[in-house]
Amino acid sequence: MSSYPVNMQTRPEVQPFFDEATNTISYIVRDPGSDACAVIDSVMDIDYAAGRITSDHADRMIAAIREQGLRLEWIIETHVHADHLSAAPYIQEKLGGKIGIGANILTVQDTFGKIFNEGTEFQRDGSQFDALFNDGDSYKIGGMEAFTIYTPGHTPACMTHVIGDAAFVGDTLFMPDGGSARADFPGGDAGVLYDSIQKVLSLPDEMRLFMCHDYGPNDREIRWETTVAEQKAHNIHVGGGRTREEFVALREARDASLDMPRLIIPSLQVNMRAGEVPKDRDGRPMLKVPVNTL
Ligand SMILES: [Fe+2]
Repeated sequence: MSSYPVNMQTRPEVQPFFDEATNTISYIVRDPGSDACAVIDSVMDIDYAAGRITSDHADRMIAAIREQGLRLEWIIETHVHADHLSAAPYIQEKLGGKIGIGANILTVQDTFGKIFNEGTEFQRDGSQFDALFNDGDSYKIGGMEAFTIYTPGHTPACMTHVIGDAAFVGDTLFMPDGGSARADFPGGDAGVLYDSIQKVLSLPDEMRLFMCHDYGPNDREIRWETTVAEQKAHNIHVGGGRTREEFVALREARDASLDMPRLIIPSLQVNMRAGEVPKDRDGRPMLKVPVNTL
């Protein structure tokens, strides 16, 4: 991993916010040397049956940032989530900060622009975001240097964000007893996911890893933090030196048994627009349901 600027001496303070409705963990990442922070993978609440979008989870994060007197510099999406709505623009409106995602968002926008039959008003150039990251790009959070690792496979635009000794892996990995995320969405690929996981596992053993999701397998309590060493030793999908071929067979068999995420249809339409709800021709917020397409 010598090509990435790993700096284990920087130790950001990581504040998790678990969302029970979608089993997502959002984070405030705070620079211990200044008042700067970032938000990673925020959540907007949705009652899909009622078409009602609310902001309780995001409001808790906003309140925490204000109470601590922090300055929000970045609102990071590790990828286009298919199971929850991003609160990025809502948080940006209240607190500022730049919204960033992987540069391959263009591929995701092209794929789902077709699936949702979007018109030409839906730009497929990533311009809804303030920053598009490529592999190895660096950015600052106060005095902390952060960098990205391109980790596709779950989706084509997945990035792992490394901030000092803390890596935010998105859905590249789950906790060791959860294994890995599915790789069967349009643009997903189990073999590519395996290669991306190897990049994460080549970070230093002591690197703290923060998950985007946890489902509490076997009735254990919800957890979100582990290390590279723990993943290498114990991950049920890739630990113990499992080969690429073994992983692909296991991942594809498991994916074939999974239902679509409950919120995939609203999530994709919103998240491919950096968290903005699409509007109909009269300017009213409106979601579509493509029938027998996904
Ligand atoms: Fe995901």
